[in-house]
Amino acid sequence: MEEKEKMEERLEEKKARIQELKKEKNAVILAHYYVPDEVQEIADYIGDSYYLSQLATKVEAKTVVLCGVSFMGESAKLLNPDKTVLLPDEEADCPMAHMCTVEKIEKVRAEYPDVAVVCYVNSTAELKAHSDVCVTSSNALNIVKALPNEHIYFIPDENLARYVASQIPEKHIILNDGYCPIHKEITVNDVAEKKKAYPQAEVLAHPECTWEVLALADYIGSTSGILAHAAQSDCQEFIVATETGVFYELKKNSPDKVFHPASDVQLCPGMKKVTLDRVMEALLQGKDEVILSGEMMKLANRPLNKMLEMAQ
Ligand code: 13P
Ligand code: SF4
Repeated sequence: MEEKEKMEERLEEKKARIQELKKEKNAVILAHYYVPDEVQEIADYIGDSYYLSQLATKVEAKTVVLCGVSFMGESAKLLNPDKTVLLPDEEADCPMAHMCTVEKIEKVRAEYPDVAVVCYVNSTAELKAHSDVCVTSSNALNIVKALPNEHIYFIPDENLARYVASQIPEKHIILNDGYCPIHKEITVNDVAEKKKAYPQAEVLAHPECTWEVLALADYIGSTSGILAHAAQSDCQEFIVATETGVFYELKKNSPDKVFHPASDVQLCPGMKKVTLDRVMEALLQGKDEVILSGEMMKLANRPLNKMLEMAQ
């Protein structure tokens, strides 16, 4: 047998073993659009951060295997204190999640006593615990608009905050200097060159991209927003400015359309740590379980639940 065929056979065996283990352990597998294709293939549900948070409160299985980065595992645990939440690789992290501090939040609260601290879900449980409401890229605009506060401290992502500020000029949005290293690396030159090469294509961008890149976009939205837009657009060709994991679902939904990455740097190392081997180990050995202290659970769960309430 050819080496390639042998590899494919081993891959299929792993997938079949994961399906068996899932039943044995009464587990459900949730995956973000950025994890490797073969992990998305074995997932029961695939979605963006908002969908995964919502879904985590509805699934019945005793164990949730969250295929994503650590803030996603923490959010699933915060919303499901009684379930076992497993993160296939506890080192799968999102650097942006750490790009603010409790001290910075306290300083802004002292300066603006009526401020609302709006925390993008890409943040640690500790940052959430000191915030008023969480948002994801798919509901940030609606939630910030609906808040009664004039002053909004938007943490940790500066790019998403700038985008929100541009759409809601009546609010005073206080910026924090956090960013996604992957989206920040997509440059305006990358996008301009792709536009020159594919002049018919629409540019679809995640709001974590820089302001200059967003200015070139035809559509700006979360990963599920990008997927929905690509599926319903009359356009046949797209330049996509977000992590390349999303191409799996883009091509599945629209096999006849053509998708070009905006640059060659769109890979999130944290998301790519989630492999089939890791998922199998998580199911077999019950690792890595997400554990948060009782106090943290109580404080960090509040802004997440407020997001779910306000987003409805
Ligand atoms: P979504 O909110 O679109 O799922 O994005 C999460 C993320 O990590 C983007 O980099
Ligand atoms: Fe974090 Fe960026 Fe990876 Fe999203 S793509 S998980 S924001 S590092």
